[in-house]
Amino acid sequence: MPEIKINIFKDYLSGTPAYVGGKSKHEIFTSAEKIYKLSSNENALGSSPKAIEAIRANVHLLNEYPDRTDERLRQALARFYDQKLSESQFIATPSGSEMIDLTIRAFMGEGLECIASNPSFQPYFMFAKNHGAHTIDVPLTNENYSLDIEGILSAINDNTRLIFITSPNNPTGTIVTKHEMDYLVSQLPDHVILIVDEVYHHFVNDDDYTTALRYVRDGNQVIGLNSFSKAYGLAGMRIGYAYGPEEIIKYIRQLSKPFLMNTLAIEAAAAAITDTDFIDKTRSHVLSERAYLYDELDRLPIHYWKSQGNFILYKPEMPEKDFEAAMLQEGLMVRPVGGFGAPGCIRVTIGSKAANRAFIRALHKILMT
Ligand SMILES: Cc1ncc(COP(=O)(O)O)c(C=O)c1O
Repeated sequence: MPEIKINIFKDYLSGTPAYVGGKSKHEIFTSAEKIYKLSSNENALGSSPKAIEAIRANVHLLNEYPDRTDERLRQALARFYDQKLSESQFIATPSGSEMIDLTIRAFMGEGLECIASNPSFQPYFMFAKNHGAHTIDVPLTNENYSLDIEGILSAINDNTRLIFITSPNNPTGTIVTKHEMDYLVSQLPDHVILIVDEVYHHFVNDDDYTTALRYVRDGNQVIGLNSFSKAYGLAGMRIGYAYGPEEIIKYIRQLSKPFLMNTLAIEAAAAAITDTDFIDKTRSHVLSERAYLYDELDRLPIHYWKSQGNFILYKPEMPEKDFEAAMLQEGLMVRPVGGFGAPGCIRVTIGSKAANRAFIRALHKILMT
């Protein structure tokens, strides 16, 4: 390789660690016979059967280019939202992560800033850095990981463009209440957009919860960010969407490329969104297994946080990497989340009944020896 003699690299990209998602099953080594993957907040019940049917019915179309735009999926989304929003208020992207990147590309650049609150999903920070922008961290406060709304408001300056709020939050499982969201939205200056990342919203049972929908309908500068990876069970398809004020969505859509989403992802998502049976089953599975886990955990010497997501955050009294290795020995993949701003903590997905029972057995073994 010839040596590069002058610096042709963008300063803000040099040395930037790339976002590394959770490992797949193929990447791990364990002597355990059965592996339960509880490290990526996937759906324990599989994928929406309607989506699978749509994928099968459209496989023969793979030699043709997909739709040029996201129009068909936007129409399906407007129907799903009972026409409370118009089709032009939606944008579909190849995953929720891509939507984060697209929004950052649309609004961020050198000298500009966004705000996020650790512990949190790291792409907000990393993608902003990839575009020369800076993310101000206004950490969640106290034992319960509450949002520091006054801290966020005082971190806003003339260069701020985006605020990321995650509710339920990954990895803490906490939500932002209606009251908090009302206040935050009411204080937003005109040059700032609030992004509400609600990819785990299907798993909430707290009455104090709100999505971004009512704020968008009331004409505020708010975007709701969603994914088909979680409740719909389509993480492998890579598809997500957002909704917001028409002018903002139209502006972001200019960055979209033709044929951005593949045929099977479009068909799967359009079918999945109508699969209320599967969503109901998924939701009741997660809620009842969450209750089962709390019951078991209350009898064990481990600190955990009650969650509104399909995962639970733990703080074992041993280094997170040791805990991860010990769990792997028992055939369970879990996620250390020190890198999310929660040092010493582990996030574990609420899995199938068998997986959750295997997790509790492994916890007994690891904590009691
Ligand atoms: C809070 C949050 N937002 C967005 C995403 C992106 O999901 P995807 O890129 O799979 O659509 C995830 C995935 O884990 C997440 O946890």
